[in-house]
Parts: sequence; C-alpha cells; structure tokens
Amino acid sequence: MAQPGLFLGPARDVLDPSSSKKPKRILDIGTGNGSWAVEVANRYLGAAIDIVDLVPIARELPSNILFFRQDVNRGLPPSMPDAEYDLVHARNIQLGIPDYPKLIDECARVLKARGLINLIEGDWDIFDSDGNPVTPYKNPGWYNWIQAWRGAVAHQNIDVEAPKKTEQWLKDSPYFSEVKATARWMPIGPWTNDAEMNRLGEIVWENLKYLIPSIRPLLTEYYAGRSEWADMIVQHAWAELASPHSHVFMRWRFFWGKRNSRVYSPDGPVPRKPRKGKEREKPQTESSGGRA
Ligand SMILES: C[S@@+](CC[C@H](N)C(=O)[O-])C[C@H]1O[C@@H](n2cnc3c(N)ncnc32)[C@H](O)[C@@H]1O
Repeated sequence: MAQPGLFLGPARDVLDPSSSKKPKRILDIGTGNGSWAVEVANRYLGAAIDIVDLVPIARELPSNILFFRQDVNRGLPPSMPDAEYDLVHARNIQLGIPDYPKLIDECARVLKARGLINLIEGDWDIFDSDGNPVTPYKNPGWYNWIQAWRGAVAHQNIDVEAPKKTEQWLKDSPYFSEVKATARWMPIGPWTNDAEMNRLGEIVWENLKYLIPSIRPLLTEYYAGRSEWADMIVQHAWAELASPHSHVFMRWRFFWGKRNSRVYSPDGPVPRKPRKGKEREKPQTESSGGRA
C-alpha cells in the first residue's frame, strides 16, 4: 500500500536512538509479507522490530526482526510485555479485526508512555472522478465487486464503516492523546498528470491485481457456495482494472497518536472518553454485553 512515508507523526523524535541507551522497539501488527517491517529494519539497523501475523511469513528476515504467529483478536502475544514499544504500526488489517477498539487497547498496553501509534486503513469503496462512490451504471465491475465485498465483510461481523470510525475510536481511547488523522485519494492506475500520483497509482493498481481475486473465498462463502457468482464478480472487476474506461480512486486514511501516561488497566474494559455533547459512558462489563 502506498503511504506518504514509512511513519506518520513525530516518529523521528520517538525513534531517535540518542534518546535512550536501549535499542528502539517497533511492532508491526498484521505484517503480511513483511515489506514495511523489512524496509524499517534496513533503515533503522539499531532498532529491534517485532512483527505479528495470523499466517507464517515466507521470506527470510533481517536479524533485527522477530516474527510472532498470533491471532491478535486474542490479544498480542502474552510474551510481549507492557509498556515496551516505542512505535506500533498496523496497516490494512481491519478486514481481520471485528473489534478494532479492543486492538487499540492492546496497542496501548504494549506502548511506552509517549510512544507512537500509526494506523493505516483504506475505505471499502471505489470512487469516481467526482469523489462519489462508483455506480452500477458507469462502473458495474467495480460496483458489484465492492458491494459483494462489503456484504461479505459485514457477514463476518466486521464493521464496513470501520475505516471511517477509526479516528474517533483512537480519540475515545483513554490511553491516547494528540490524535491526528489525514486522508489521501489514490488513483487506481497511473492516469493523472502528476508523476508522484502516478507512482502511487501504479502501486494501488498492483495491490488491487492481487486483492480482487484474493477475496474470492470470502465471496464464495457469502454466496453460500455458489462459486460461479464469486467468479463472475471477480472477473468483471478484473476486467475493469485491466481495461479501465473511466478514472477511479481509492481513499486511504492515516491515523497517529501518542500514548499518554495513563497506566494500562489489565482488568478489562476501561471507560472511554466522553464524546462532545454526550454523557460519559458507564464502564462496561463482559456480562453487560460490553466490549471484551
Ligand atoms: C491486507 S494484508 C496487509 C499486510 C501488511 N500490513 C501491508 O500493508 O502490506 C492483512 C494482513 O493482516 C493479517 N491479519 C488479519 N487479521 C489478523 C489477525 N486477527 N491477527 C493477526 N494478523 C491478522 C493477515 O493475515 C494479512 O497478512
């Protein structure tokens, strides 16, 4: 995924090796093929980078990276101590995380005070050149694919609006301060007049080349085993990617915040900060149906 830089927010201060005798510690959650972590490891040779994913990583890793296999919906690996990391990064993982605020709490557990969280997620939408979601009339291939995907994702109890809610989730967390968010339109393909945008467009295009067919199992399950529907949706989206007849975009969102000094509560959910104009939420317990 194309992001503005390796890190978001005041990472340079947080990762400045002169600020501590111990190596800086970085955690990448849902690392995938580890491309981001390997780039960081090669650039910050003195840092120790831990990476986590559900599935084993196939590539050879630099000596300053350690892989952990874990479903983070069950929490981060228990061997990861509290208040240990200087920076926690997670990019494009919401599809596997039904309770994202709970994961934000886990990030708070392992971050040091003043440590930095970096989160990156793309909207589950494809947009036309007016910035509106694509329609079935102009972009049927994209439209059917994104609708099927959203249906399948909702079917898995994943909130399809999660990318749009992430800024508020981070702001509501009692553990983070100085929360900032930004969004960026990314062309699908190199069709703009701007060289940098075209570079991003090529990366987005390449990502989609793999993403479009990769959701086929999710779609097959959603269509109750009728794999011909899943095949058709994938093929039509692929055709629109390969031979675009109009300019389309994706929208990526970038979030960062500083871990504050509030001590992590191991006793379960903590009250969230009140939103403007709303009463402070009462602490929830598992038995009252609150977030675990
Ligand atoms: C779309 S890939 C993104 C990979 C990488 N972050 C990147 O941006 O290149 C999502 C990754 O998150 C991992 N993932 C999803 N849900 C997860 C979970 N519950 N626990 C651990 N890893 C998870 C997937 O296995 C996959 O490798």
